[in-house]
Amino acid sequence: MIQSREAVVGRSTERVAAGSGGAEGNARLTGTTGALLIALLAVEGVTILFIRPLISVHVFVGLMLVPPVALKLGATGWRFFRYYTHSRPYVLKGPPHLVMRVLIAPPVVLSTLFVFGTGIAMFVVKPGGGILLGLHKVSFVVWLVTTGLHVLVYLPKLPQLASSDFRRATRLPSARVRVGLVVTSAAVGAVFAAATFHLAAPWLDWVRLRH
Ligand code: HEM
Ligand code: HEM
Repeated sequence: MIQSREAVVGRSTERVAAGSGGAEGNARLTGTTGALLIALLAVEGVTILFIRPLISVHVFVGLMLVPPVALKLGATGWRFFRYYTHSRPYVLKGPPHLVMRVLIAPPVVLSTLFVFGTGIAMFVVKPGGGILLGLHKVSFVVWLVTTGLHVLVYLPKLPQLASSDFRRATRLPSARVRVGLVVTSAAVGAVFAAATFHLAAPWLDWVRLRH
């Protein structure tokens, strides 16, 4: 069916609801947070390859990742909530692709919660190669496969999503709020990591002595 120009313009305007940037603004927040995650996860990946000399960096960056990951889950959770509560801009945008939301997203979210949950839980148990470290490693394998696919699928969209709020011509309402949220998540992450890092001291000693 051929739609009139007014209908098409009307639709895209609704997706960009005044004030918040609407569904398109939400996608940009998700994308910009994804860009920050890629940078921090790349550093985390290097520490895994050289875990003994880089265990301190592993723990610090892992803790620093917590607020940006929470922001990513918050932004995507908001899209999910708005879609299922029939918010018009989100219904017009539609849900993510069936394969992505049914097969990939649930293990991405669950394995992420497990990797971070077991990482932080290690602070409250005595250092050693027990069940927590085992679960940390197993959930990492699931995480790597599923999140690797997730990133590969979304990577082509990333430059446009993450840069549009920085260009005057393509800026949407609340661009500053979105960029501010991403920068703040990194800053809060750094403070959180600095404040809790000392709790990992026994593990850092154990890793250095063990290998
Ligand atoms: C801890 C890691 C991550 C988690 C838990 C996570 C979670 C999610 C979830 C639940 C969704 C919504 C479902 C879907 O569209 O499949 C999503 C969408 C998305 N993610 Fe991730 N993600 C992570 C990392 C990344 C990274 C590193 C990137 C960078 C490429 C990224 C880019 C995107 C994009 C572009 C979308 C779609 C945004 C939209 O069009 O609304 N994600 N993510
Ligand atoms: C919440 C922050 C985190 C903390 C506190 C943490 C802590 C630790 C500790 C203490 C070890 C033991 C090192 C060893 O002897 O093997 C470890 C290993 C490991 N961590 Fe994490 N981690 C965190 C986040 C992450 C993240 C985000 C990932 C990946 C996405 C990850 C993946 C791994 C892997 C694969 C190993 C095993 C490395 C090896 O033994 O070769 N961790 N982590």
